[in-house]
Amino acid sequence: MNFESRADASGAFHAASQAQPNIALVKYWGKRDTALNLPAVGSISITLDSLWTRTEVRFVPGQKQDVVSLNGRSDEAEAKRISACMNLLRQRAGVDYGAEVASHNNFPTAAGLASSASGFAALVHAGARALGLDLSLAEQSVLARRCSGSAARSIFGGYVEWTHGQLADGTDSVASPLLDAEAWPLRVAVAITSKAAKQVGSTEGMRRTADTSPYQSAWVDTQETDLSVARNAIHARDFDALAQISEYSCLKMHALAMAAQPGLLYWNGATVECMHRVRALRQQGVPVFFTVDAGPQLKAVCAPSAIEQVKDALRDVPGVLDVLDTGLGAGARAIPVGELAR
Ligand code: PMV
Repeated sequence: MNFESRADASGAFHAASQAQPNIALVKYWGKRDTALNLPAVGSISITLDSLWTRTEVRFVPGQKQDVVSLNGRSDEAEAKRISACMNLLRQRAGVDYGAEVASHNNFPTAAGLASSASGFAALVHAGARALGLDLSLAEQSVLARRCSGSAARSIFGGYVEWTHGQLADGTDSVASPLLDAEAWPLRVAVAITSKAAKQVGSTEGMRRTADTSPYQSAWVDTQETDLSVARNAIHARDFDALAQISEYSCLKMHALAMAAQPGLLYWNGATVECMHRVRALRQQGVPVFFTVDAGPQLKAVCAPSAIEQVKDALRDVPGVLDVLDTGLGAGARAIPVGELAR
């Protein structure tokens, strides 16, 4: 088993890594710098465990192009983003080797399940090691952020905060862990209400919101308070407080985006029905709350004892196609080369 970079028989340098998606409880929406991918606001998330991206990177001296395969297929738009991300690592290492990148997700991509977060966290983690770069997790988080904002958070496990930072070069806009997954092992049921790729991606959605939504400045102005409430709730393991602030941040982000022109409406009818179902459960005393990202899937976060009841309730909602179930997990880590899809 090979966990570290080494030149193989053909002289190429390779490494493989796994990272998991994260779900924001206090949402990131809006950029203060588009080129550097700096957020207008800080955010707090949980990293999941049983959904994953596994990525293998092989740098080939003498090769000019990058060759990218995602779930066994080529994808031109994603290949461009991946090459741009690999350029950051190549610059850092002072090499111009082309890369072969192969990546597998065990969950549907591009449907509001943060596949870019786990994807770019795994890519930076593997790519840096393949090139022999000795980067701290914080440095990897900064690089992952340049490639896809929320990927900054998937470098770490458990409960994670990504600060919006003050510096113009963005080197202080970095994620860091707040609490380990094991310290408060909540569970998450994901109700899949559509398997179609979303129509407006988060970058375009954020740009349109910042340009046209009348609520943008109120969103930015109120975020620090939300972050502090969520941070305190996490440190105190106060489920009710985390439920209140998370649903509030989710609905506030969507209200902000709905008020853009043209309005961004990421939900379908089943998403809304799931929200009502989760709130009805909570009123009956079940410890559960919802959050929704830039897509139609609903994530219900609950105490471990409630997971079966929550899954049953969501499965029962008309329009729910499937319900996934995951705990909270670790950050990006090395995996053996050659074992991607296992
Ligand atoms: O990292 P991006 O560009 O995919 O944006 C993520 C935006 C949300 O998922 C809606 C919120 C968040 O904080 O993850």
